[in-house]
Amino acid sequence: MNKRNVIIKNASELVTCKGFEAKRGKEMDELHVINDGAVIIEDGIIKAVGKTEEVVKGIDESNYQVFDALGKTVMPGFVDSHTHLVFGGYRAEEFSWRLRGDSYMEIMERGGGIINSVRGTMEASKEELIELGKKRLNSMLSFGVTTVEGKSGYGLDYDTEIKQLEAMEELNKVHPLDIITTFLGAHAVPKDYKGKEDEFIDFIIEKVLPVVKERNLAEFCDIFCEKNVFSVNQSRKLLSKAKEMGMKLKLHADEIVRIGGAELAAELGAVSADHLLQASDEGIKAMAQNNVVATLLPGTAFSLKEEFARGRFMIDNGCAVALASDFNPGSCFTESIPLIISLATLHMNMTPEETITALTINGAAAIDRADEIGSIDVGKKGDIVIHEFPSYKFLPYHIGVSTVEKVIKNGEMIYDRNKLFENI
Ligand code: NIG
Ligand code: FE
Repeated sequence: MNKRNVIIKNASELVTCKGFEAKRGKEMDELHVINDGAVIIEDGIIKAVGKTEEVVKGIDESNYQVFDALGKTVMPGFVDSHTHLVFGGYRAEEFSWRLRGDSYMEIMERGGGIINSVRGTMEASKEELIELGKKRLNSMLSFGVTTVEGKSGYGLDYDTEIKQLEAMEELNKVHPLDIITTFLGAHAVPKDYKGKEDEFIDFIIEKVLPVVKERNLAEFCDIFCEKNVFSVNQSRKLLSKAKEMGMKLKLHADEIVRIGGAELAAELGAVSADHLLQASDEGIKAMAQNNVVATLLPGTAFSLKEEFARGRFMIDNGCAVALASDFNPGSCFTESIPLIISLATLHMNMTPEETITALTINGAAAIDRADEIGSIDVGKKGDIVIHEFPSYKFLPYHIGVSTVEKVIKNGEMIYDRNKLFENI
């Protein structure tokens, strides 16, 4: 029996999220649920989806690994489309300062923040980064994530940026989760370039980007487009160059101060613009018109005690909204999908359906993979999660707690929570 031939049947709800592109506006509220559903995976690829009775008719089940999902919800694996998962060192001390009232930007301006993690990442060997990365990916997996985006950006020099990207390249080989890699060389201004930001952008364009592209170390190029970090013009310069070289674009946009990041994302045809806490009405509408996915990161707003991004307004204005963790050592040290679900539903007025769309098919669209993952459709990868409750409505209801029981990746079961308690 091929291990990657799987039947999951009798699911109380088979939440397909069906579709091969981002869902925008009202479409986000429709999950396409099949009651008493089944899915067949062969060689890791989804072969059939529908009512159990119809799907298993005439099939010799002895050729498959069969999962009975009676009383359970079956959904696509989550796609965490914005993380900074490879870094050395932690910033627990800074978190305490923030709890006492210091702001993220104040800490950054006195040499903490991203630069602090740059030091930690420079000091760590590639092997250490890989070991840390594995643990973090395992944790994400336990929350039902099957594909994750990962950014560089804790190097800011040639060697360390490349080391981070190589660590992700290796992780992609040794860990079952898929990692889509983003080059974020322009994540902060290094000390030696303070006041010479234009020169730093030129350094990235001339010395690092060509190697990243040539060695295929990243698919996306990203920048922290923010007041006192990189301006809209500097961002345009770097991202236009990356686009010319054939890279896809992302932006950390309008996170702390509204400087026109959303508008720039629309102008450049970025795949996604992320954060957007301060995005203007015009910027949001321009993103909707230009098919830029709005990737919202409520864990970060929560952790920074900022107002949440205007997810409701974005959806009502026709945007495709994705949700992601922004897992990183500073502004958001959490990989918890249940937390993101709680924040989106309870604080951003997103419905459970929109929230799940944002974490599946729209997460896939945010990394340009909506044709391959993010839904349970024939032809897509067999990346599927079995949740312990009979309805997807339990996900927001079970506040802050993971409902994930089993994770199937490319048709192979790689996580089974029940095994953890076998001896109890
Ligand atoms: O997405 N905003 C910029 N970058 C990260 C924070 C990184 C850090 O604080 O280490 C973010 O929030
Ligand atoms: Fe980020």
